[in-house]
Formats: sequence, C-alpha cells, structure tokens
Amino acid sequence: MGEIIFDAAVTINGYLADEKHSLAWLFEVPGAAEPDPDLLPANVGVHVEGSNTYQWLLENEDLLAHPEKWQEFYPGIVTYVFTTRDLPVPDGADVRFVSGDISTVLPQIREAAGDKNIWVLGGGELLGQFLDHGALDTLALTIAPAALAGGAALLPRNIGSEQLELIQAKQAGPFARLVYRVKH
Ligand SMILES: NC(=O)c1ccc[n+]([C@@H]2O[C@H](COP(=O)([O-])OP(=O)(O)OC[C@H]3O[C@@H](n4cnc5c(N)ncnc54)[C@H](OP(=O)(O)O)[C@@H]3O)[C@@H](O)[C@H]2O)c1
Repeated sequence: MGEIIFDAAVTINGYLADEKHSLAWLFEVPGAAEPDPDLLPANVGVHVEGSNTYQWLLENEDLLAHPEKWQEFYPGIVTYVFTTRDLPVPDGADVRFVSGDISTVLPQIREAAGDKNIWVLGGGELLGQFLDHGALDTLALTIAPAALAGGAALLPRNIGSEQLELIQAKQAGPFARLVYRVKH
C-alpha cells in the first residue's frame, strides 16, 4: 500500500495562496517555475485536491481549451476532486468527483492508487480532514521566502508536536524544505 503525502509550497507565515487564489508570491521566487523533481513526491498514482485547487489548475494553464496539456502534466495520474458541485473536466482526463467524509471515500482512492503513493495537493481544510481521520503519512513543505497578509491557510487546525516528527530539513536554493512523518 502506498503512502498518503501532503506536499505543497507555502509562505513563511503559512499560506498556500493569496485571497484571490493566486500563487504569484511563489512564482516570483527565482527557480520556482521549474521545481527540482527530487523535491516532489515520487511514485505517485493519485492526486487528491479540493475544488478550488482543481479550478486554479484548470484556469492557470487553460486546460479545458488545451486538454493535451493535462496528459503532459499528469500522465497516468488519477485525480480525485472533493466537491459538492458539477465541474468541467478536460477531454480525456481521468478526474473523479467525490464528496463527504474522507473515511468513506478513502477505500476507492486507495484502490485507484494500488501500490503507488497518493499526493494530497491541497487546500488546507482538505489536509485537515485527512489528518482528522488519521489518513496522512507524510507532511512535506517547501517554504518560500515570502509572506502574505491573508489567503488560503496551510492548516486551519490545532496540531500538537506529539503528532509530527521532523524527518528532513534542508535548503533548496531560496527555499527551505521540511518533511514530517505523521505519527498515528
Ligand atoms: N502553494 C501550493 O503549493 C498550493 C497547493 C495546492 C493548492 N494551492 C492553492 O491553495 C488554495 C486552496 O484553496 P482552498 O483552501 O479554498 O481549498 P480547496 O481544498 O482547494 O477547496 C475547498 C473546496 O473543496 C470542496 N471540499 C473540501 N472538502 C470537501 C469534502 N469533504 N466534500 C466535498 N467537498 C469538499 C469544497 O468546495 P465545493 O463548493 O466545490 O463543494 C470547498 O469549498 C487554492 O488557491 C490553490 O490553488 C496552493
């Protein structure tokens, strides 16, 4: 069984995006547009994301008009989107819409992943739901040298140090990379 990993870039004060869902603060950092593949989760079979993250991905790369880019960016990946709405899907993309309790949906996500890892991309509330259900194995953060006055919070939860074990801390150019194992 693969691992469930949250991995995202974040500001030093804990935001994933600004109030308008923009990642401009991230892409202004030198080298951010071409992230080091060694910093991203390996052997991933499934992406899991909330609807705002999914819509940002669609809009940022105009993926509905250019569905071939979806295959280029996410080859062989099954994407689960948590939403209560009907959202569009790029032609040919394997996007599955789910809603409700994480523990109800998790068996089908695990089955789709098989032995591969599951990458929870965001946002913070969805990350919180995975932690609430003891369903996260690894929390990985790439911290950008930037702060935001407000926006989408990384993790709107109280999490004690008894739940997280630091297993890696390193510099990656202008970024700081922190990886935690979630204790169950
Ligand atoms: N910095 C990074 O590396 C990074 C990584 C990922 C995302 N981001 C950005 O961070 C922002 C995250 O946005 P966000 O915090 O608003 O979160 P989000 O998780 O992307 O979207 C939240 C929405 O997901 C749906 N949802 C969540 N849990 C659900 C559940 N259990 N059942 C049904 N629907 C559920 C709800 O939408 P409905 O109204 O559709 O039901 C909810 O309003 C986005 O702008 C994204 O682009 C940044």
